[in-house]
Amino acid sequence: MINRRTFASRALTASLAASLAPQLFSNTSPNNTANVRLGFIGVGGRGTGLLKTLLEMEGVQFPAICDVLEKNLTAALDLVEKSGRPRPEAYQRGPYDFQRFLKRDDLQGVIIATPWRWHIPMSIAALDAGKAVACEVGPANSTGECWDLVRAAESSNTPCMILENACYRRNMMALLRMVREGLLGEVVQCRGGYLHDLRKRIVLGKGTGVTLPTGGDYRTRQNQIRNADIYPTHGLGPLAQILDINRGNRFVSLTAHATKSRGLQSWTQRNLPSDHPAHKYDWAMGDIVTSTIECQNGENILLTHDCALPRPKSFDWQVQGTQGIYNEVADGIHVEGRSPGHRWEPFDSYQSEFEHPVWQQYLKIGVRGGHDGADFLELSAFVEALRQKRPVPLDVYDMASWRAIAPLSEQSIALGGQPVPFPDLTNGKWMNRKPSFGIA
Ligand SMILES: NC(=O)c1ccc[n+]([C@@H]2O[C@H](COP(=O)([O-])OP(=O)(O)OC[C@H]3O[C@@H](n4cnc5c(N)ncnc54)[C@H](O)[C@@H]3O)[C@@H](O)[C@H]2O)c1
Repeated sequence: MINRRTFASRALTASLAASLAPQLFSNTSPNNTANVRLGFIGVGGRGTGLLKTLLEMEGVQFPAICDVLEKNLTAALDLVEKSGRPRPEAYQRGPYDFQRFLKRDDLQGVIIATPWRWHIPMSIAALDAGKAVACEVGPANSTGECWDLVRAAESSNTPCMILENACYRRNMMALLRMVREGLLGEVVQCRGGYLHDLRKRIVLGKGTGVTLPTGGDYRTRQNQIRNADIYPTHGLGPLAQILDINRGNRFVSLTAHATKSRGLQSWTQRNLPSDHPAHKYDWAMGDIVTSTIECQNGENILLTHDCALPRPKSFDWQVQGTQGIYNEVADGIHVEGRSPGHRWEPFDSYQSEFEHPVWQQYLKIGVRGGHDGADFLELSAFVEALRQKRPVPLDVYDMASWRAIAPLSEQSIALGGQPVPFPDLTNGKWMNRKPSFGIA
């Protein structure tokens, strides 16, 4: 069923295909809307949002969906049916039913939007079954798991994409263009992070009612058992593009420090009745975790995880080079020889001049979907990569190395802030791989 909106999406997807990552799409017809058959594992808040965005695209079918929670699963099946597509087959026989789901032979790709600890095991199982993976963001459980992920993608020769929508944000794509065109000179340091007051969400959990083998809500549980940067990829993803990580550059070592843990207890004492079980929780996580990552080409990245204290939300992005600096909190840029004095200029005044070609096209046709339109772009990139049998733009090396920040920061903190070597998850391939993300 094609309505005006899906028709516009089809045109948009096709026209964006060439510029999202032209090396992925250049040899194909922009009118190619061959069916792409996707499955879902996990259709909670985020999975449902991704599903709604994908339902906007013509030629994307959903033969099956897997979730342990009947309410979420049924709502997702209904959404697909209401879009005019056949009702997907349901998989809901417990937390390991995804293994049965992955035996289907009609799925080209799988979107994974489950709690964090499942992401990499589910991705590996999907790759082993020959299904392309688009996986949500989160931490790795261990660096060994990151290696297993890379090996699964390499041995199956199957695409694996991290759904890091921050890379597709309008300001960060314009900034990427500015850096590539030399506006800031040679970049020497980047800063970013996930700075989001999640105290209520962490202490009380999300209330999905699912009791999983780890027990409890994933954010609650991870804050109880880990002292690490457990949400590194939103802050890091766009910076990794700016620094050509895994494509001519790489992370070499990491040092991390954590503050004391006070924010969650303090919030609990002031907001929950004295008989609430949260008063007895132990929190392993320091309120602010700061990691410094050294890069092969001499830059460093300062990454912050700050979710247990009152504050406005921020990604804290800053990119500083020999000729200028961008700062997200100031929403400003300063370019030597162009900006007056030593003052910030509004970033907006540079945005249109340096609008990324992907966004130039996207704005013409109409921005849609979650996260200011970034979700539609990331999912289009995955769908087009499958349709045209090309590599995905944010690939398994990105997913493995970005998520490895969690266990590596955990190790460094446990060692009193000592540097830990960053494993080269590309196994030397970073030396010959070329930057590709969003290059027109
Ligand atoms: N990129 C973004 O901007 C963004 C935004 C929100 C959430 N996320 C990420 O999306 C992921 C999911 O978050 P959420 O908020 O949707 O969580 P959620 O708890 O709402 O949804 C998780 C879903 O997975 C299901 N599930 C759990 N274990 C399962 C299993 N073993 N097999 C099948 N289904 C299982 C649950 O029943 C639930 O429906 C997280 O990794 C989160 O970090 C990303």
